Amino acid sequence: MIQIKDFKDFDGKTVETQGWVTNRRSSKGLEFLILRDGSGFAQCIVNKDDVSEDIFNTASKLTQESSVKIKGNVVKDEKQTGGYELHVTELELIGTSVDYPISNKEHGIEFLMDHRHLWLRSRRQWAILKIRNRLIFAVHNFFQKEGFVQTDSPIFTPNAAEGSTTLFASKYYDDDAYLAQTGQLYGEAMAMAMGKIYTFGPTFRAEKSKTRRHLSEFWMIEPEMAFYDNEMNMDLIESFIKYIVSDVMNNCKTELEMLERDTTVFKNITSEAFPRLTYDEAVDIIKGKKKINGNTSIEVLEADLADIKNQIDDCKEEIAEKEKIIAAGVKKGKRNFLQNRIDTLKNDIHKLEIKAGNIPKWIESAANFEYGNDFGGSDETVITRMFDVPVMVYNWPHQIKAFYMKRDAASPELAKGVDVLAPEGYGEIVGGGERETDLNLLSGKIEEHKLPMKEFEWYLDLRKYGSVPHAGFGLGLERTVAWICGTQHIRETIPFPRYYGRLRP
Ligand code: 4AD
Ligand code: MG
Repeated sequence: MIQIKDFKDFDGKTVETQGWVTNRRSSKGLEFLILRDGSGFAQCIVNKDDVSEDIFNTASKLTQESSVKIKGNVVKDEKQTGGYELHVTELELIGTSVDYPISNKEHGIEFLMDHRHLWLRSRRQWAILKIRNRLIFAVHNFFQKEGFVQTDSPIFTPNAAEGSTTLFASKYYDDDAYLAQTGQLYGEAMAMAMGKIYTFGPTFRAEKSKTRRHLSEFWMIEPEMAFYDNEMNMDLIESFIKYIVSDVMNNCKTELEMLERDTTVFKNITSEAFPRLTYDEAVDIIKGKKKINGNTSIEVLEADLADIKNQIDDCKEEIAEKEKIIAAGVKKGKRNFLQNRIDTLKNDIHKLEIKAGNIPKWIESAANFEYGNDFGGSDETVITRMFDVPVMVYNWPHQIKAFYMKRDAASPELAKGVDVLAPEGYGEIVGGGERETDLNLLSGKIEEHKLPMKEFEWYLDLRKYGSVPHAGFGLGLERTVAWICGTQHIRETIPFPRYYGRLRP
């Protein structure tokens, strides 16, 4: 059996392949099948003159998602995705498919989510999962080449590490247990054993809100490095993100095209340094007090708004023109063509109006931002709007960061944390920082956060026996996939998403 992705090696030859029919259309003694096999998509043409009557009959009755075995000749055709099509000589039905619920027409998101087990077969979902796969591969490649050891942290844990409000409670025989929110604390122990480690595992947070960036179950990559301070941490984060993004850009061109992702937004990712802003500087940007390239954030957003309004006017003008032509009377073909264009424009207007409606809200919430607060989604959007590569924000007020963050000796109100914010409104993809090594400060924080001291005795041991400066970070896999793929919502970036309100399928 030859996979579709390998057709290129069989130009002009006969191959046998198998897969599912995603689409069929007929035209004068020809059946055009779109076959998918997981490795790719290919058009297969069944010509009445080339096959037996039985085979042509079978082909002309094939329904969406029937599975088939096909023999045919590979023919180059640049117009096709993949560049090759198959001229069928034999065809055998493997499994029928009756009334497949997902058609080419638009479906509501809840319907698609209820049918996630089938929706995964669609082109768009296929492309996203391929990109997710490549990203995972790139993550391992990066850390392995940098000499990191991959270690695993437990999922059943006796305590919170990232704040007790988002814990999923469980039982561990007779003990109370919680699903891990992070592997970090165990990662620190492993870094003291192995030097530089990374964990890559599922993490769980009871996020009782439906946002486009929150899952209840997500995968996190958490490197932890002995003898690293936060500067070195930021250098590593930057080279890591540059590496994984450019790896996906180089190896997933077809998938990114299928998603219609505008990849020019990544063009500077490797050449340009990621801006590093202190929390204070970031707040000044939000509040319009600091200029970047000669403009404040408020000025840039107001210009964006004016630009969007112009675009809406242009769309409306074009619609009016097209409607006038239709009203004057045109042939059916031409009318359909014009009507399609009008529908597209109306869709564009809808999207632009949503954007136009958001900008004043961002400006307002930015103006009202209070120093000392954590950034919300719109604050992150405002900061990242000023740059075209991810932005690092460091030196945070210690009160809004986790108990383990290292306090700055020179400014004790600050903690040496770092967040990385992705452009285009994707926001925080990385959270990390240097870890507190001062035993007294650390146990003080554990008390302040009302965490059970006895569960942290082993963690405090790491500071008693050869404590060293160390740092690390966590990259959210799904948020990174969403950013690279340009998906509206994080729920499409994991095969079976778990978020508030969804446990099935
Ligand atoms: O910023 P967070 O909470 O940091 C930690 O968990 C640290 N222990 C990491 C470390 O230093 N080892 O989470 C890290 C990242 C976020 O930046 C985000 O990308 C992702 O994990 N993340 C989520 N992704 C999807 N859904 C959620 N509910 C997420 N919460 C965090
Ligand atoms: Mg965070």
